[in-house]
Amino acid sequence: MPRNFNHTTICTIEKVVDETPTVRTLVFSDEVMSNVLPGQFAMVWVPGINELPMSVMISDEKGKAAFTVRKHGPSSTGLFNLGVGEQIGVRGPYGNSFDLKHGKILLVGGGTGLVPLMRLLTFVEPSDDVTVLIGAKTKEEVFFEDLANKLLEKNPHKVIVTTDDGSYGEKGFVTDMVEKSVNQTTFDGIYTCGPEIMMHKTVQIANSKGMFVQASLERMMKCGVGICGSCCVGEDLVCKDGTIFSGDHLSSNKEFGYFYRNKAGILEKY
Ligand SMILES: Cc1cc2nc3c(=O)[nH]c(=O)nc-3n(C[C@H](O)[C@H](O)[C@H](O)COP(=O)(O)OP(=O)(O)OC[C@H]3O[C@@H](n4cnc5c(N)ncnc54)[C@H](O)[C@@H]3O)c2cc1C
Ligand code: FES
Repeated sequence: MPRNFNHTTICTIEKVVDETPTVRTLVFSDEVMSNVLPGQFAMVWVPGINELPMSVMISDEKGKAAFTVRKHGPSSTGLFNLGVGEQIGVRGPYGNSFDLKHGKILLVGGGTGLVPLMRLLTFVEPSDDVTVLIGAKTKEEVFFEDLANKLLEKNPHKVIVTTDDGSYGEKGFVTDMVEKSVNQTTFDGIYTCGPEIMMHKTVQIANSKGMFVQASLERMMKCGVGICGSCCVGEDLVCKDGTIFSGDHLSSNKEFGYFYRNKAGILEKY
């Protein structure tokens, strides 16, 4: 019987990889999740704690998928603390996916925002010339640099890391490097996921150059399927209309980059 994507499937954690002191990847077997499109997410039930939206991470093993979680508040910490043999509930996949252009591609990611971008890298063609910009606060928080290089070993590519404090890679904000890159190269597609301030700046820079850009937005999610309205950003529902939005659409959304709704649905400034 085909799977009902709105039913929760129980999965067992098979492997845990420490990426940084606060970020872990939890690998599990699930055919549906192993084949999601780049940018799609799942609702992940952490038994006894909560259900959280998570981008679906790739695995190098067939039929497997993963979640890469940063330990933050109670729910993500609950997920982060799960070990091999413990169970989670997974429903989805939900949301749209990146519209991958070919030619010269620029990816801009920060933190766990790199998760959907790593999956996007598995869809590039060998002739695509890909630049990946990874932003982190410090050296300790850099991850997926080696993975990005490995996924792109057959492509002309560059993986550039920036750290705010200069402890690794180039010193400064990743958006400084976006500015530099678009001044040197005309990109056919720019894709970004991570902190909203980073995505907002990236979209502004790309729009000012008339380059195609898409950003994957995050908002508070409860249902994940367009019913509760908790994920709205302006007129859009992130879970159903997104999570991927194009730069020209975002340029007319007055909440993107400025406001979000808290757990009570109240609009707050970033
Ligand atoms: C589409 C999508 C994909 C995501 N992918 C990842 C991922 O791959 N890895 C990862 O570590 N995190 C991811 N997140 C963020 C994650 O869902 C949580 O928001 C985050 O882990 C903090 O949750 P918390 O309950 O531990 O923190 P809390 O301290 O309870 O909350 C801290 C803040 O996190 C946000 N938050 C909490 N609950 C939710 C929720 N249900 N929906 C959205 N935001 C929430 C709010 O801004 C809140 O103020 C994603 C979010 C979205 C919307
Ligand atoms: S999370 Fe309920 S409408 Fe988007």
